[in-house]
Amino acid sequence: MQIKSAEFVMSNSDVAKCPKSMLPEYAFIGRSNVGKSSLINMLTHRKSLAKTSGRPGKTQLINHFLINKNWHLVDLPGYGYARVSKSTKKVFQKFITAYFSQRKQLVTAFVLVDIRHEPQPIDLEFMQWLGENGIPFSIIFTKADKLKPKAIDNHVEKYKHVLLETWEDMPNYFVTSSSKEIGKDDVLNYIDELNGN
Ligand code: GTP
Ligand code: MG
Repeated sequence: MQIKSAEFVMSNSDVAKCPKSMLPEYAFIGRSNVGKSSLINMLTHRKSLAKTSGRPGKTQLINHFLINKNWHLVDLPGYGYARVSKSTKKVFQKFITAYFSQRKQLVTAFVLVDIRHEPQPIDLEFMQWLGENGIPFSIIFTKADKLKPKAIDNHVEKYKHVLLETWEDMPNYFVTSSSKEIGKDDVLNYIDELNGN
């Protein structure tokens, strides 16, 4: 799929105020600093469509972007960032869970995990929660430029091993790097397919 246009639509902390249109929607979620906003910029080939930062906790709202005038990409705040206050964390959690449980337009979630780390309980718990709530998701491994191919394979295998302890099948997954533009076509073609093209 070619990205012909990518526009910021709105930021929100209230799922009820998100765009009313029924365009298909794809959301990026994962720990703070995992690379959600960078991935959105890489996929859309825009340098700073979504705001990124070396400091975790940059994205604080639900951000909608309109792509090719016919579908939405959604950038979300990260979960599991220790340095935001407990009350802020609760607010994030509340609107993230509200977003996933109420947003009918959502076709699939992409759960981002840093390829360098061992499977983390917080990510596994989040995937479990999505599964229990019937919300389809794929996994996106990020920052693949930081590892050699062999180490990438090892980490993916470890993830498979852990996930297959609780899931019947390994969810769809993608290996990506925003800085090296790895995995772009795979993710975009997958979205294109789900959009019925
Ligand atoms: P929050 O909005 O805080 O939840 O973070 P985020 O998940 O949106 O992460 P963001 O895209 O802001 O990136 C966090 C940091 O990781 C930035 O310093 C990015 O430059 C870096 N980063 C993101 N993707 C990659 C990648 O593929 N490779 C490398 N080497 N660095 C990356
Ligand atoms: Mg972000």
